[in-house]
Amino acid sequence: MRLIHTLIAVITLVSSANAFFPYFPPYMCPEDDRCVNQPNSPRDMKDEDSGIASLKISQRWPKTEVSRDQQVRRTVNKLIRKYNHPSQVRGSARDSVEKRGTNTYPVQTAANPTQTNSAGIDQDGTDFSYFTQVQFGSANTPLYMLLDTGASTTWVMGPSCGSDACKSHDSFGAADSKTFQTTADPFSVAYGAGSVSGTLASDSVSIAGMKFQMTFGIANNTSDDFKYFPIDGILGLSLQKGSTPSFVDTLVASKAVKSNIFGISLNRASDGDNTGEINFGAVDSSKFTGSLNYLPVSANSAGDWAIPMANVGFGSNQAGVTGKLAYIDTGTSFIFAPPDQAAAFYAVVTGAKILSTGATVTYSVPCDTTTALTFTFGTTTYSVSPKDWISASVNGVCTGNVFGRTIVADSWLLGDTFLKNVYAVFDVDKTRVLQLRLLQFP
Ligand SMILES: *[C@@H]1O[C@H](CO)[C@@H](O)[C@H](O)[C@H]1NC(C)=O
Ligand SMILES: *[C@@H]1O[C@H](CO)[C@@H](O)[C@H](O)[C@H]1NC(C)=O
Repeated sequence: MRLIHTLIAVITLVSSANAFFPYFPPYMCPEDDRCVNQPNSPRDMKDEDSGIASLKISQRWPKTEVSRDQQVRRTVNKLIRKYNHPSQVRGSARDSVEKRGTNTYPVQTAANPTQTNSAGIDQDGTDFSYFTQVQFGSANTPLYMLLDTGASTTWVMGPSCGSDACKSHDSFGAADSKTFQTTADPFSVAYGAGSVSGTLASDSVSIAGMKFQMTFGIANNTSDDFKYFPIDGILGLSLQKGSTPSFVDTLVASKAVKSNIFGISLNRASDGDNTGEINFGAVDSSKFTGSLNYLPVSANSAGDWAIPMANVGFGSNQAGVTGKLAYIDTGTSFIFAPPDQAAAFYAVVTGAKILSTGATVTYSVPCDTTTALTFTFGTTTYSVSPKDWISASVNGVCTGNVFGRTIVADSWLLGDTFLKNVYAVFDVDKTRVLQLRLLQFP
């Protein structure tokens, strides 16, 4: 998860470098401490060949009919976005955001998918983080796990973890399960500005109607970054190899599904009812129209879901950003580009201006912009709605959700801002292909 944070993950016993990079744009910074001490380090780079993978993306069609109920929810969401602070979401009367028993993070629960081997993808109500309920151990202890295609390590908060973040989340440990097997092996993930550490353990993990025996981290300490997310842990969905099998390795070895693929559809909170889902084994063809577009996963992506990007544009204006890699990351909220490439993009955006410089360069765009941001992969162009790539107005200023910040050298990081507009199929079987399906921009 590079939730807008470049988290450099240095993993003991899980050798790969992961990224969880939480970043809060200035428009999201209220009078609390979450914008202080944001990580500065670029993501650790690895060069070795990843092996096998494929990803497909398909553009999703926008909803054409909006019910009154949805319109009301959109209005509520606009207000929530305007102040964009979890405590305000918590205090609202939205029926789709529920409190949990043991902690008070807002969760917009997804509908139960009808397709087999599928799970709903919940979110925080502000499109900032996407997660699903996973059950651990003999008592099926449910935890909210961030779905993170940008990392391969899986960990949960443990019962003896005393960090502020752990104290406000649910946990899982030996006392919760008769089948829990602890190890003496330490695990740690170091991010740019924080870390997670603990010990490895093994137990059953149930998701989307499947149950696996798996080794994962039990965190005994976390940095404060996790205070701002509903998640109790991270489910790593990348292909990086470590000394213990990753979730994807476990899925493949289990032969639980005929095709080792997973399709992801992320909900936009302002669309109303949350119908986001992750589908294992088969795509949900009701989530898109037309055919899927297979894109090769780069041999240089070191186990990440990264594909070659042909260009970036604003409507039909192309920015001339060619031959770059795009990392497709469900664990990152926004879009990050190296500062010079972000500048090239905003140079073709009508009325864009630099808003702030520093570690992360931000741009303002006219609030009445109705033009899509576009990404071209192969010969197909995918549109990102201004609902997603432009923030709500804060004191009359709207911010572009493409930020100038190098997370991976010379590459773009396409997070949830992009993914809300497509159905993405992560194909582990097909060598170096990722399939994207484009959604038609309204
Ligand atoms: C976990 O952290 C707590 C307090 O933060 C400490 O007392 C305990 O010894 C730690 N446990 C392990 C296994 O490191
Ligand atoms: C827990 O992690 C934080 C941030 O990574 C660190 O500053 C702190 O010293 C750690 N606490 C313990 C008890 O290891």
